[in-house]
Amino acid sequence: MQYGYFDEKAREYVITNPDTPAPWANYLGSPDYGAIITVNAGGYSFVKSGAAGRILRYTFNQFDEPGRYIYLRDEETGDFWSASWKPVKKPLEQYRTECHHGTSYTEFVSEYNGIRSKALYYVPMGATHEVWRITLENLTDKPRKISVFGYAELTTESFYTQDLVNMQYTQFITRTEFHDDFILEQINEFNYPRPDGTTGRERFFGVAGAPVVSYTGRREQFLGRNRFDAPQAVLDGKCDNSVNYNGNPCGALQVSFELKAGGKGTAAFLLGQKDVFEARKIMDRYVKTEETVNSELAELIRYWHGELENLKISTPDPAFNAMVNTWNAFQCFTTFVWSRAASLIYCGERNGYGYRDTVQDIQGIMHLDPELARKQLTFMLSAQVHHGAGLPLVKYSHNAGHEDTPEQESYVKETGHPSYRADDALWLFPTVYKYVAETGNTAYLDEEIPFADKDVGTVREHLKRAINFSMTHLGPHGMPAGLHADWNDCLVLGDQGESTFVAFQLYYALEIMKEFCENEPEYVRYLDETAKNLLKILNEKCFEGDRFIRGFRDTGDIIGSKKDKEAAMWLNPQSWAVISRAATPEQAEAILETANAQLNTPYGLELMQPSYRYEYFEGARMRLFNPGTKENGGIFCQPQGWAILAEALCGHGNRAFDYFRESSPASFNDDADRRVIEPYVHGQFIEGHESPFAGRSHVHWLTGTASTVMVGCVEGILGLRPTPKGIEISPAIPEDWDGFTMEKVFRGKKLHITVDNLAHKEGKPEKVIVNGRERVPGVIPESELKDDNVITVVM
Ligand code: GLC
Repeated sequence: MQYGYFDEKAREYVITNPDTPAPWANYLGSPDYGAIITVNAGGYSFVKSGAAGRILRYTFNQFDEPGRYIYLRDEETGDFWSASWKPVKKPLEQYRTECHHGTSYTEFVSEYNGIRSKALYYVPMGATHEVWRITLENLTDKPRKISVFGYAELTTESFYTQDLVNMQYTQFITRTEFHDDFILEQINEFNYPRPDGTTGRERFFGVAGAPVVSYTGRREQFLGRNRFDAPQAVLDGKCDNSVNYNGNPCGALQVSFELKAGGKGTAAFLLGQKDVFEARKIMDRYVKTEETVNSELAELIRYWHGELENLKISTPDPAFNAMVNTWNAFQCFTTFVWSRAASLIYCGERNGYGYRDTVQDIQGIMHLDPELARKQLTFMLSAQVHHGAGLPLVKYSHNAGHEDTPEQESYVKETGHPSYRADDALWLFPTVYKYVAETGNTAYLDEEIPFADKDVGTVREHLKRAINFSMTHLGPHGMPAGLHADWNDCLVLGDQGESTFVAFQLYYALEIMKEFCENEPEYVRYLDETAKNLLKILNEKCFEGDRFIRGFRDTGDIIGSKKDKEAAMWLNPQSWAVISRAATPEQAEAILETANAQLNTPYGLELMQPSYRYEYFEGARMRLFNPGTKENGGIFCQPQGWAILAEALCGHGNRAFDYFRESSPASFNDDADRRVIEPYVHGQFIEGHESPFAGRSHVHWLTGTASTVMVGCVEGILGLRPTPKGIEISPAIPEDWDGFTMEKVFRGKKLHITVDNLAHKEGKPEKVIVNGRERVPGVIPESELKDDNVITVVM
């Protein structure tokens, strides 16, 4: 079944049937003030941390309640409904509605009984409060009197677990009060107030644009004995002007509009964690409601659409276009900014950035905003320990040069991470490479950045130490030890087990470093020898003709041999053999073929097969999951991006695109009940063929899938491959495409690219014409590019 469509012009996903199989969500603001909002206005808000800075209550895994509710009531008949379909849930034959999820805003446009309502939700650029603008329009030819009730269910305190489970304390620390046009919640009011009497813990919920008719700060009064579909105050047509004391706080405000035939009315509800003075200032800014909201919205759209400008594609596949141009890109920015902070699945107990996750996330926005990417990259380099490893968890309060490390009890106590992961720092190589290649800024390699605990070094020095860390943590075969984990969090190989995936990563790192250290012949010789040696080991010990094995247990036993009964075939060693350029063309063909034959399903490639049931070993933690799920044989989505890239690098456009299509959210738009989560954002994994729910996806929004699939599409399928010297354009596309166009900004220069595929090939172009000059395919040097360039790629 289909619930909505992509409106690419507006860069929105428009939900036309709000009865979606899960709460389809959107992200507003940033973790400084973050708000998640669903198709039925459910969701929560927080300051800095979803777990420790929670403002709005929300119950996970339940009924998508409570939410940012706006109730509308016809004062003549007493009939009422809501600006989003739920909570009141009028019959959809009478209640027409659209939920427009846009880039950092969400708007509900609904029509019921002659009244059109528009409820727009956003966090203004750089602000730490949120806005719910409600506009009513009387579509009938007689006057109507409509009341509007805004409802925000405030937490009793910032720690959401305390709010939910420690009520013997939390109910008695808070009260609400009313100030003309807003409700103010006090928390631990007399506990060390500041000189002006405020605490900074206050929250406000106000309404601008129309005078308050009635209010309550008590949930018990607003709801009565009812639930959200029929709150007592809305039934009664008024709140009782009461406040909360030793109960459940809320903000509920009523305003009223007399609408002439065709007339309109507007108000804006405002919410944030602000003291009484700050709240007053914010309220005053919205006196000119329409004007303020319109200009804030325009600014928001200008910013976000601006961020998506650097690459625009137009291919024969609208779903691919929508993902690359808007939704995958917006999701990449969301993972970049939010890391794994908060969603409807988890809410920020991890108080920092995961090393690999963040370094990978940076890649997803590289082609759109490389300078923003660089800032975070520099930050992550400053979280590398002096011996080269990445800190497993980089605290939000990270203080480069002064951090404790897993070697110290204090770090372990604070973060829960006792040891290093084999892969963390190795992600820096492709990410730094992509930055230098996108921008041409090779000087970045000489920039000095502190290490996390001590020492300062250039970026190049940081990378050398990362290699050194791997080289001083080798296992018995001379391959990188798997340590606490490699990319796979469920594979604990320790310092005696070894990982082929990390070996390929290291090989790739060594090759990149050869290019970065051209002026250091001795070091290049070392890199070259090390790479050759590693390749020899990989070929002699890890290649079985049709696959690379996954590695070695600490006992020396092979993981992922074709002889194994379980977990005999793994995806990542195959894709990474190709991405790292370690595999020969013949090997590449063979291993990608096996991956296709043994791992592919209608919904993407399974991470490994068969899933572990009986034959596991101690370090194979994925056995905890049901077969076909997550790391235990599920279709882990991040690796789909690597599979797309690997196939594309081999010129296999048909297969690269098949892999994109199989697991792409947009492919499920017409079969949304199978996927369950949003058809416009990637999830962490899809259930594999061993599950009775094959095709169902989980863990929406904040996942590394966003960046790897983006890279798979941009560098792989579209073939946009910057190098430090210029850019190569080598698409790998479905052979039935006649061609397509791309508008790309590269180092400030515009590239108008037309790909001509009248020859109906799937990869490896014949020729490239740059501003009328024909050249053999390969890197187009930056020096050949003008401000505006017309480029034709002939397949
Ligand atoms: C999760 C983790 C990521 C890990 C992956 C595979 O997505 O966030 O760090 O690489 O699982 O285990």
